[in-house]
Amino acid sequence: MWRDALRKPAAKWAVVLVSLLPFVGLCSAIFLDTLGPNPAEYLIRATGDWTLRFLCITLLITPLRAISNMTEWLRFRRSLGLLTFFYAFTHAICYSLFDMGWEWGEIVLDIAKRPFIAVGFTGFLLLSLLAATSFNAAVKALGIVRWRQLHRAVYGIALLAILHFFWMRSGKQNFTEVWVYAALVGLLLGWRVWTQFKPNARLEK
Ligand code: HEM
Repeated sequence: MWRDALRKPAAKWAVVLVSLLPFVGLCSAIFLDTLGPNPAEYLIRATGDWTLRFLCITLLITPLRAISNMTEWLRFRRSLGLLTFFYAFTHAICYSLFDMGWEWGEIVLDIAKRPFIAVGFTGFLLLSLLAATSFNAAVKALGIVRWRQLHRAVYGIALLAILHFFWMRSGKQNFTEVWVYAALVGLLLGWRVWTQFKPNARLEK
């Protein structure tokens, strides 16, 4: 039953539409003026949170495929990866607009001055590279082996995202959510390493 539902072309669209709901929610909150006393901070933080959530959801696809033995889950991986990029892009736009007033010189200085911004920026650059090479033409041009090696950078991006989050929260010593995401990313990374090195490992795509 699950398998049939996941195979339907509409399932892909349903995933994309549901994934855009947080964005629609934030846009309507802007228009209804319900973002609270500091709307800029709210938007930067909310888009950062959604980027990290979608990164984790994207990383969940491979274990889900292996545990359920259903390759159908892989149909959603590219869309989820692109949605992660979409939220990261929105996050970067909110920061550039609300925190830095579109001043490119100030943005460059801020990246150089604040390590947590530099770490987020590095994650964003890597994520952009993966988004730009997520299409069939790029797989063809790079060759599947090199393409897979490149796309393993998603685990590095997840570690950078945790470091970015940790650093940002260290000022207020408020780490509760950071530990939750760190544990999840640790589990996903640990699972990946374990499946890679266990005897008779057969790595799924
Ligand atoms: C992979 C890319 C990125 C991820 C996953 C990410 C994730 C996050 C998360 C989870 C937060 C904390 C939200 C909270 O407190 O609830 C955050 C905050 C923030 N991020 Fe990012 N981020 C990324 C890239 C960037 C980039 C490229 C920039 C800017 C160049 C940036 C600037 C900021 C700023 C300014 C804050 C808020 C700091 C504050 O309110 O004091 N992030 N980000």
